[in-house]
Amino acid sequence: MSSEVERRFSTALEANGASLPRHVAIIMDGNGRWAKKRRLPRVAGHRKGVEAARQVVRAAGDLGLEVLTLYAFSSENWRRPAEEISDLMGLLRRFIIDDIDELAEAGVQLRVIGDYQAFQADVVRLIDDAIARTEGNSKTTLVIALNYGSQNELARGARLLAEQVQRGELSPDAITAEALSQTLYTADLPPVDLLIRTSGERRLSNFLLWQTAYAELLFVDTLWPDFGREELAAALADFGRRERRFGGL
Ligand code: FPP
Repeated sequence: MSSEVERRFSTALEANGASLPRHVAIIMDGNGRWAKKRRLPRVAGHRKGVEAARQVVRAAGDLGLEVLTLYAFSSENWRRPAEEISDLMGLLRRFIIDDIDELAEAGVQLRVIGDYQAFQADVVRLIDDAIARTEGNSKTTLVIALNYGSQNELARGARLLAEQVQRGELSPDAITAEALSQTLYTADLPPVDLLIRTSGERRLSNFLLWQTAYAELLFVDTLWPDFGREELAAALADFGRRERRFGGL
């Protein structure tokens, strides 16, 4: 890494001071367009996208972020061609196999949100082992959203509460925002402070709709494979300049 990148990274960090977000969530978009611009197959963009994710996870650890959530596979991504889904699963396998040692040693706790049980059995096993292996870590929590959709997550939460009511364990009056929060995959995590989407698209795409209720939104034109340490630092510097009011004055 160039010393110039590192210098700008440190400057952005210092400028940020106390207003570092606790929870940053990223919609990693633009892998396909990155590849297309280079006349490469889409999988080459995804491969470079994994490399970008690796850099950003390391940077998040160096910065002392508490939680980093990455949207790696949405419940709508099943609509892609079978070959691309298979490529993405292959990259996920490799990411876990190749990176779990480094993550474990760096004090990263790996978590997954979404219905990843629907993946192939060997991928489910790899994920479960990786989660179990890093369970005791507490420096940074890396949350990977896999087969995740926010509306499904909320419907699942409503169903869980309805079942409790049906069993007579919960009164309908007790269905509060807090009670619903507790049904979500993210129950014990802080809410998202900063949501970043790359590639110039300005949509939430069914990602953490509840958890981003008061998040600052940042849309950047950079395609995900080109996003790295410096872009993360710039995003945090932008966050540091914002005034958050949470509905107050
Ligand atoms: C968006 O690009 C990216 C995805 C569909 C998710 C895949 C993400 C990675 C491979 C990187 C992270 C992986 C891990 C395992 C942490 P796109 O295909 O939608 O791009 P496009 O909109 O330009 O076509």
